[in-house]
Amino acid sequence: MANSLLKAEHIKISFGNVHALRDVSLEIRPGEIHCLAGENGCGKSTIVKIITGVYQRDGGTIEFAGKEFGKITPIDAINAGIQVIYQDFSLFPNLTVEENLALNTEVASGKKMIHWKKVQEIAREAISKTNFDIDLKAKVEALTVAQKQMVAISRALMYNAKLIIMDEPTTALTKKEVKALFDVILQLKSQGIAILFISHKLDEVFEISDRFTIFRDGKLVATGNTKELDDKKFTFYMTGREFEDKKFEAVHISEKPVLELDGLTMEGAFQDVSFRLHGGEILGITGLLDSGRTELGLAMFGMRRATSGRILRNGEPVVIANPGDAIRHKIGYVPEDRLSEGLFLPRSIGDNIIISEIDKLTRNKIIFDLKKRDAEVAKWVQELEIKTPDPGNASTTLSGGNQQRIVLAKWLACDLDVLILNGPTVGVDIGSKHDIHNILQKLAGNGLAVIIISDDLPEVIQNCSRVLVIRSGRIVKEFQSRDVSEQLIVDAMM
Ligand SMILES: Nc1ncnc2c1ncn2[C@@H]1O[C@H](COP(=O)(O)OP(=O)(O)OP(=O)(O)O)[C@@H](O)[C@H]1O
Ligand SMILES: [Mg+2]
Repeated sequence: MANSLLKAEHIKISFGNVHALRDVSLEIRPGEIHCLAGENGCGKSTIVKIITGVYQRDGGTIEFAGKEFGKITPIDAINAGIQVIYQDFSLFPNLTVEENLALNTEVASGKKMIHWKKVQEIAREAISKTNFDIDLKAKVEALTVAQKQMVAISRALMYNAKLIIMDEPTTALTKKEVKALFDVILQLKSQGIAILFISHKLDEVFEISDRFTIFRDGKLVATGNTKELDDKKFTFYMTGREFEDKKFEAVHISEKPVLELDGLTMEGAFQDVSFRLHGGEILGITGLLDSGRTELGLAMFGMRRATSGRILRNGEPVVIANPGDAIRHKIGYVPEDRLSEGLFLPRSIGDNIIISEIDKLTRNKIIFDLKKRDAEVAKWVQELEIKTPDPGNASTTLSGGNQQRIVLAKWLACDLDVLILNGPTVGVDIGSKHDIHNILQKLAGNGLAVIIISDDLPEVIQNCSRVLVIRSGRIVKEFQSRDVSEQLIVDAMM
């Protein structure tokens, strides 16, 4: 029998009446790269929190490096050799790289005096383990996401970690940064450190992992060698469903355009963008990260101001100077980073859904019609299959895919003509992605004009009736969906 580093068996935990983990097991061997996958909300982050003593389990056993883990605290887990790179990295933005690296050591060691020279030494050594080139005196808030991640990893290495857990580390990274991260992961592996890599992205799982475990609905579905896995099996294990992707065809196209851009320009971001969008269409806008695609989306929603050119709604020029103007003109926008822009996370799920239609639900704009509000919330929770035991719960209790649905519900509730989505399925699992695509196709089928800004080419090709390619701020190509391919788009993008 292969020896195991971590052996968690029959783990159970509930939050109120949500059975987050019903019965899962996870076995990680020393020095392996193990991928934990599963749809949003299946319990991936929860098992990590149990292993690291953040949550106390209701049942099951955990053994790490040959020792039984009873009731443990996060400090116990660190001392045993487990490190977690959280999605937000848990760094202090206003401190320097060096201070961030130092702080934890000093706290963990319980010393009262901080030996800066020693700290610098340790920091330098930690950083060198990843071949990572960074100014130790730089403020963390000035770093890119990838750099912050490397600081967090370097910090993790200061503790003789035997296991480093990375919770969806690639979500906010560019392709190049992902590659750099994978190099680091392989380097850690070569030093004998095991990695638990949480992801629901197929290609990543195949590329990086030795073995895999898949959860669904708080239960263990499959575990084994990644070599024995293929696309089809992976998708089925994750979702329990088999998919056929439906290609969108625009049927009820409005006679007149509902939205027109006429030479829209934002100095330094995009130039002379013109197109017409009809109700019932799904228009794709695709381009590389710095092509101007996001600024264009923001300008149509009034979050950034175009410097010249016109926006027309139903043939009439309109001024969209702020999101309020956009909403008045029935234009909605689902941002790329739903967590910082799209949701009021601490507020309840229900509040988030009805936030943009407050006017409709209040009498005299003062008294809130609670019955109407609850009915409206219930309608959208059902319509978009948002998985929650209670819409009164905070949005933070939801998984990524479900948070994305709230952002959608929020907009759909206010009866739009145009819905712009930037990266609608970034960080969302296969099943939710499929559902979101179906929802968008259905909405367009009902006459909504939809714009999808995305660099996920299969997504664009499958769901859009037309595709515009933006490069260095200019629309360089327009494809009709029937004669577009990934290769043609890539050629136009580069
Ligand atoms: N503190 C909490 N209170 C209540 N419910 C919670 C809490 N933490 C997690 N849950 C619920 O437990 C379930 C599992 O959540 P978890 O965050 O582990 O999912 P996940 O697999 O990490 O999803 P994602 O891919 O979206 O990150 C979800 O239904 C979630 O709403
Ligand atoms: Mg998670």
